[in-house]
This record gives sequence, C-alpha cells and structure tokens, in this order.
Amino acid sequence: MDPQGPVLVEGPVEIVLEDGTVARSDRFLVALCTCRRSRTYPWCDTSHRRRERAQTPPEPEDRIQR
Ligand code: FES
Repeated sequence: MDPQGPVLVEGPVEIVLEDGTVARSDRFLVALCTCRRSRTYPWCDTSHRRRERAQTPPEPEDRIQR
C-alpha cells in the first residue's frame, strides 16, 4: 500500500468519519483518500498526485514533443 495514494475497496461502502458523520458511495470500486489532501475527503480526488510531480519533474527527453 502506498501511504501517499488511495486505498481501493469494493463498494458500496459506508465510511464513518472522525466526527461521526457517515459518507456513503454506491460505486462498485471506491478510492479512499489516505493523504488527507482530497477536497472530497474521504474520497480520493487525485490531489495526492500534485505533490509527486512537483518533487520529480520529468527529464527533458521524457517530455512529449508536439
Ligand atoms: S489519496 Fe488521492 S487525494 Fe488523497
């Protein structure tokens, strides 16, 4: 498990948050946020990716030329 990425679980799911509220999803596969940067927490909104890209910019030869 990547601590900076989502955990994928089979849905539907009910997640009890720290404040006692319950978040529900009826999707067949659900990505749960573990990085706490998601604006749709507890669901992953791919915000975990932004930091990874900033730390490791692509090498010039890896960039796509158009
Ligand atoms: S794990 Fe994807 S936004 Fe947190």
